[in-house]
Amino acid sequence: MKPFKVTSTFEVYESIEELPEVIRDLMKQAMRARDNAYAPYSQFKVGAALVLNNNEVVTGSNQENASYPSGLCAERTAIYYAGAKYPEAQINYMVISAKSMKHKVDAPVPPCGACRQALVEYEVKQKSEIPVFFMGESGQVMKANSIKDLLPLMFDKTAL
Ligand code: THU
Repeated sequence: MKPFKVTSTFEVYESIEELPEVIRDLMKQAMRARDNAYAPYSQFKVGAALVLNNNEVVTGSNQENASYPSGLCAERTAIYYAGAKYPEAQINYMVISAKSMKHKVDAPVPPCGACRQALVEYEVKQKSEIPVFFMGESGQVMKANSIKDLLPLMFDKTAL
């Protein structure tokens, strides 16, 4: 037996004000998209925004369902829409913001495991990294330089 070490490094911004202007504007679009979340069951609203290399911005929000597993996260709503509408485009950045209707969320909210798996597919597809900025309603913003940093030992097509 020998250990196999995996390390990821993230960047932390103290607030949205510290972000580069283009990312801050994108985050504001994710926050607006967040308001469109349909989250009557969890009262937890998430917004995601993607900027593509054709300069289009695609946003998404979580959409819940009375049959809970049929709902979809904001990140997958956005990336599947981008893939469906602009199949040739590359994703330059993704940003995410989450807000609870029950309590203040001021710690960064990273994408769930299922979304990480969905997102890494597009990183592999486009053969370039997708930086992701994620936050709560306010407070610190974290940046992952690549989906792979969020999903070490990822499963992708090379295993098939
Ligand atoms: N949710 C997202 O939209 N993205 C995530 O990465 C985590 C969770 C949604 C799913 C569900 O509608 C609500 O947040 C509570 O889990």
